[in-house]
Amino acid sequence: MIKNICCIGAGFVGGPTMTVFADRCPHLNVTVVDINEKKINLWNSNNLDNLPIFEPGLAEIIRRTRNINLFFSTNIEEAIKQADIVFISVNTPIKTSGIGAGEASDLKWVESSARTIAEFAEGHTIVVEKSTLPVRTAQVIKEILDNNQINKKNINKVNTFSILSNPEFLAEGTALNDLENPDRVLIGGSDELSINALKDLYLNWVPIEKIITTSLWSSELSKLTANAFLAQRISSINSITAVCEVTGGNIKQVSKAVGLDSRIGDKFLNPGPGFGGSCFKKDILNLVYLCKYFNLPVVANYWDQVIKLNEWQKERIYKKIVEKLFGNLSEKRILILGFAFKANTNDTRESAAIQISKDLLNEGASLVFYDPKVTKKQILDDLYQIDEIKKNSFSKNISFSNDVYNAAKGSDAIIILTEWAEFKRIDWAMISTLMRSPSWIFDTRDIVNDNDIKKTSLNYWKLGNAQLD
Ligand code: NAD
Ligand code: UGA
Repeated sequence: MIKNICCIGAGFVGGPTMTVFADRCPHLNVTVVDINEKKINLWNSNNLDNLPIFEPGLAEIIRRTRNINLFFSTNIEEAIKQADIVFISVNTPIKTSGIGAGEASDLKWVESSARTIAEFAEGHTIVVEKSTLPVRTAQVIKEILDNNQINKKNINKVNTFSILSNPEFLAEGTALNDLENPDRVLIGGSDELSINALKDLYLNWVPIEKIITTSLWSSELSKLTANAFLAQRISSINSITAVCEVTGGNIKQVSKAVGLDSRIGDKFLNPGPGFGGSCFKKDILNLVYLCKYFNLPVVANYWDQVIKLNEWQKERIYKKIVEKLFGNLSEKRILILGFAFKANTNDTRESAAIQISKDLLNEGASLVFYDPKVTKKQILDDLYQIDEIKKNSFSKNISFSNDVYNAAKGSDAIIILTEWAEFKRIDWAMISTLMRSPSWIFDTRDIVNDNDIKKTSLNYWKLGNAQLD
């Protein structure tokens, strides 16, 4: 009988996932641990506005579970000792140096988690890969766990482990709904008892037909493939935005017509400034690396193209802005609306806004930023990214506002980069009286109602549209 579960990593996945486990399984004790003490303090903060991540609905569930059967702690050793199941939910970014730099996953946090489990686990422990991992990582974890036991001095105290893969498919901004009503729960492994133990936990709220089991390697590969397919759809529709702009097509109409084919489906066909988020790029890079490693260059190039198209989309948007503003951005004030990689999250990892803003700053533009959830510090960290030269040259041209109308005063252009709902309610007639003319609105998220703009003197460029050009 599973009573105690521990999750290593209190991040975007570990936090919400374990909150839902605690909520849906009141008989369980759930402890989320992290090496980052500051983060754990924020998870334990009395003021629920201070949680380390913003996710709609999360604070409410934390309020009813925290310190009842959900605990956030830095005492990793104790939580592992007590646990029947340990989830590994640590970060798996791309390696920045050495073999596979720029493509392969950096597994140092996964390896260190496995070593900590090997050292402190007691009895039989089910170790679950929650992080997105390269195929066959379970083998690495197994070797670390098994070897550590062989080295133990007291042979009578040897512990046992079984390893499962249970990748997470939640998307940020909709994490709670994704966790509470998942399309599927995937469990990879070979040990039936452990698979059933994990399955039983999910059965507390997930219908049995939605829980599928596969081999470890299929499970690990399915997660990479799912993200690659999702990203591919975005690059596909984004590639057509460029075609619409030159041919007079309208991307919304094309997207609708294509998506109504039930074999294609209408989801994930929204054009945008390029996909961001911590995972799509890294997971595809990982797949590309895997293919190269196994000498499948044609497959590697195929998936690499999804990333190249994404980079190109950001670049062509920035170039379009420069072109429309007479090829010169110096002494021009541009308001950037939205910095998060998508709405309803404060996460900015790989946000298209980062690259587009940097390119505009390089052109000499003065940027004013407004995002309802992203902090000033986060935006500055993303723009400077420990680059002191950039910091010196950019800082005088960066400012912030928490009022769209104030920020619009004297602006030459407004660029909408994140689809926050509040941007849909902007009074464009009012904005047009505040900006310096000729004034431009660049809408990369199809937020603005064309009719509202037509009534004003504003110039308007909408991604994937030619008719208002
Ligand atoms: P994150 O960076 O938000 O959180 C990871 C946490 O792990 C950090 O707080 C870090 O301090 C902690 N950590 C690292 N090593 C540790 C150790 N040895 N002991 C204790 N804590 C440690 O990352 P995330 O966004 O939650 O992603 C985690 C994994 O889940 C990644 O593999 C990612 O690809 C995958 N994933 C992410 C999402 C998402 O929406 N962010 C969705 C599905 C899957
Ligand atoms: C994505 C997947 O959707 C999750 O299933 C997966 O678990 C997760 O990655 C992960 O492995 O990390 P996430 O990155 O949080 O989730 O958010 P998405 O909704 O997928 O959006 C990713 C990016 O694509 C955003 O920048 C978004 O604006 C963009 N996007 C999405 C579009 O441009 N058009 C669309 O139609 C959909």
